[in-house]
Amino acid sequence: MKSVLFSRFFILLPWMLIVIIMLDVDTRRPAPPLTPRPYFSPYAGGRGGARLPLRRGGPGRGREQRNESRPPPPQPPEPPLPTIYAITPTYSRPVQKAELTRLANTFRQVAQLHWILVEDAAARSELVSRFLARAGLPSTHLHVPTPRRYKRPGLPRATEQRNAGLAWLRQRHGHQRAQPGVLFFADDDNTYSLELFQEMRTTRKVSVWPVGLVGGRRYERPLVENGKVVGWYTGWRADRPFAIDMAGFAVSLQVILSNPKAVFKRRGSQPGMQESDFLKQITTVEELEPKASNCTKVLVWHTRTEKVNLANEPKYHLDTVTIEV
Ligand code: UGA
Ligand code: MN
Repeated sequence: MKSVLFSRFFILLPWMLIVIIMLDVDTRRPAPPLTPRPYFSPYAGGRGGARLPLRRGGPGRGREQRNESRPPPPQPPEPPLPTIYAITPTYSRPVQKAELTRLANTFRQVAQLHWILVEDAAARSELVSRFLARAGLPSTHLHVPTPRRYKRPGLPRATEQRNAGLAWLRQRHGHQRAQPGVLFFADDDNTYSLELFQEMRTTRKVSVWPVGLVGGRRYERPLVENGKVVGWYTGWRADRPFAIDMAGFAVSLQVILSNPKAVFKRRGSQPGMQESDFLKQITTVEELEPKASNCTKVLVWHTRTEKVNLANEPKYHLDTVTIEV
């Protein structure tokens, strides 16, 4: 009897070992992430649809804890992320859709961004309306034409369009306590790094940073001493009170709302003085908050797109289909 039991045990032993090894291997296999990575489809989400990260927490946050039986201790709720309002004036020209495409590809990677696109036109164009509807970004589409007398070389551009963006913001937030927000003037032809948005998001009143490829130099920048702006590194009109390009500053929503009369002015405005004329109404140089490592990093570039050559575009015998470019 004993020997029968022994022989059965030795027959079963290798099988038991195999089962134990297989169970052990299985528990060591890495687990799939608890929450799948958000997937962005430009067609599924529409306005305000899901977007890729560059947001707090980062991917794979609870992965290390998957084998713990106790739930993680409750975290204090995080304060809401201030919304970044990007006001972009834009006008119809052959490169418009290409510029807007580059811009949307950047903005789509920024959390909590609201795009205020203001067309320099008497009506919203079909091209821009269609583009925005498929851009997968929270957005507002405005329009206002620049009066013909101001459409001349040497005169400031986009004055009416930026003011329309400001008016929309004030109207939308006028009747309630301001939600945390930051306003930024994002021309459609510049190049923006994603880091720039992380920097501007913490703007308390008015923040500033360097701008690349502007003012006839590789860059312009605010000069900073002991955390304060004390002057400007610029190659052009150093006498400007704020020698800074439109792409070089951001303003908190609160400051925009508590200075309801601050706008861009046509009257008396000289080329290159729009930024100073506007900033003078809402802040002082001493108050400015330097960003980008005390203004030592270039995170935005004042790129300008070459005028496109359409010399060979046929006048007659055009293509048989109409294609939007
Ligand atoms: C520089 C500054 O970077 C601009 O912020 C400033 O508005 C401009 O000078 C000025 O002189 O007013 P620059 O590259 O010379 O920029 O200007 P553009 O990029 O041609 O225009 C600035 C913005 O206004 C762009 O978003 C553009 O699409 C828009 N724009 C331009 C219009 O809406 N209508 C126009 O007729 C021309
Ligand atoms: Mn430009």
